[in-house]
Amino acid sequence: MTTPPFDDRDGSIWLDGAFVPWRDAKLHVLSHGLHYGGGVFEGERVYGGRVFKLTEHSRRLHTSARELGFRLPFAVSELDDASREVVRRQGIADGYVRPVAWRGSEQLGVSSAGTSVHVAIAAWEWPHVFSADARLRGIRLSTSRWRRPSPDTAPVHAKASSLYNICTLARDAAVAAGHDDALLLDHRGHLAEATGANLFLAIGGALHTPIPDVVLNGITRQTVINLARELGIAVYERHIRPEELSRADEVFLTGTAYEVQPVVAVDEHAYKVGKLASALSEAYGRLVRGPAPRR
Ligand SMILES: Cc1ncc(COP(=O)(O)O)c(C=O)c1O
Repeated sequence: MTTPPFDDRDGSIWLDGAFVPWRDAKLHVLSHGLHYGGGVFEGERVYGGRVFKLTEHSRRLHTSARELGFRLPFAVSELDDASREVVRRQGIADGYVRPVAWRGSEQLGVSSAGTSVHVAIAAWEWPHVFSADARLRGIRLSTSRWRRPSPDTAPVHAKASSLYNICTLARDAAVAAGHDDALLLDHRGHLAEATGANLFLAIGGALHTPIPDVVLNGITRQTVINLARELGIAVYERHIRPEELSRADEVFLTGTAYEVQPVVAVDEHAYKVGKLASALSEAYGRLVRGPAPRR
């Protein structure tokens, strides 16, 4: 069965404060956000009908918009309520929520002065990024030629659509070369992140993860750091050079969509799905889904 395209589905989408039929949730082709990259978005996971860390995501949508110089016309609590209602109406038990905000079509020049701001929220059943097999055996990464830019080149702390150009180029090249995802370095040559997830290395029983100074400080990243510390695992946030990949015992990624995803290869380096990734994957699963049923 093929998955229907995203503009041709049943149900409704929340658009600027009201529900509209899914197929009618449109924007004009001359929207400023489309031409000049004025868009921000979120990715949220639904577990058992509830959005995990919903308010953190709604807040980040606000912060991202501010980083791009615009204000959302809905409060965080209004976005929370709308997201819950979207999930309820679509009858989503295990799925994904996509809030997005963009500049409208009042003018079409580089300046954004006078443009309105629009917000939409949609949800669908979408449990995983990678196949069940890839999730279990671990995924394979290759280092991209694309890098995360410096904070004086791009609004690196925003979850901005324009920054995903880099991720899409990197991801498409990695997949075309037979890998599952790409690993990006930052502008200084430090390890940065994957195309939709943060990076962790396990070295000698401790975790090491890049300082989020030019990468997204993922909500899952922060959750996993807390879980690790609760489990007594030391976590070091620091700049990490690519050469250190050769002394890592384990590598894994974290993200709303990836959850805790073990990595079995980065370029020529091979890894096993190890104890720390497994323990954190289990702990994360318990946190988001509740305890596993007893057999
Ligand atoms: C580039 C990038 N880095 C990291 C993450 C992880 O962030 P989070 O855990 O908040 O989903 C994401 C996903 O949103 C991402 O797109």
